[in-house]
Amino acid sequence: GSVQDLAGRTVVVSAGGTREPIDPVRFIGNRSSGRQGVALAQAALARGATVTLVAANLAQDVTDQVEAGPGRAACTVVRVESTAELREAVRTAGADADVVVMAAAVADFRPAATPDAKIKKVPGQGPAPIELVENPDILAEIAHERLRPGQVVVGFAAETGDASGSVLDHGRTKARRKGADLIAVNAVGSGRGFGTDANDVTVLDGAGDVVGQAAGSKREVADALWDAVVKRLP
Ligand code: PMT
Repeated sequence: GSVQDLAGRTVVVSAGGTREPIDPVRFIGNRSSGRQGVALAQAALARGATVTLVAANLAQDVTDQVEAGPGRAACTVVRVESTAELREAVRTAGADADVVVMAAAVADFRPAATPDAKIKKVPGQGPAPIELVENPDILAEIAHERLRPGQVVVGFAAETGDASGSVLDHGRTKARRKGADLIAVNAVGSGRGFGTDANDVTVLDGAGDVVGQAAGSKREVADALWDAVVKRLP
């Protein structure tokens, strides 16, 4: 879109997947490439926004795209690895933002301890268990605090259907729990959502009601989400 409906607005978008260190050489991570978050940042730039992209471990081709990208003057890129770093960067940039979009895939848990030395394989002994502790929920925190009055807060819900409910059921539960203004429910797994060029989301409001549907390239999904955000800006 060439419509400048985000002109004068400041937005923060997180993209990619966090990595939680197990030791100096290993981590717990996920399959997010950063493609959807970067598409959101690019769409916001095209619509006139000033953008901070908080980038967690993007795939190499996505990093190349960010570095080559147009409109870089209006885009600040903050690179992070862990959830703690992502939280800090999003909160710092979010303090001045009209909109915060959490497209990053954030680890729910991290190893309780991170030793300075590589964990050794001891011949004849089995693997040492890795104790996990819960990470803060960055989206829920920001949705409940609002770092700035009138701030619009947007999240995703990456879901697979299972015996306890459909993708939409799980997304609706998450929408109500997190308190964001908009949640894009994203079916993931077996070639969907993570890493792909295309995406398919159902957009819910904070009450869990469907307010939109978007399918197509990640850029098209991004523009549909910005359309929904623009309607909610004060
Ligand atoms: O990066 P791509 O390869 O393009 O893939 C895009 C995507 C599938 C990763 C993206 O569209 C997406 O769904 N991102 C959210 C992934 C995720 O972490 O979902 P979740 O259902 O676990 O979390 C729900 C929301 O809470 C998300 O907005 C997440 O950023 C946020 N969250 C989660 C945990 C946590 N500790 N803090 C958070 O802020």
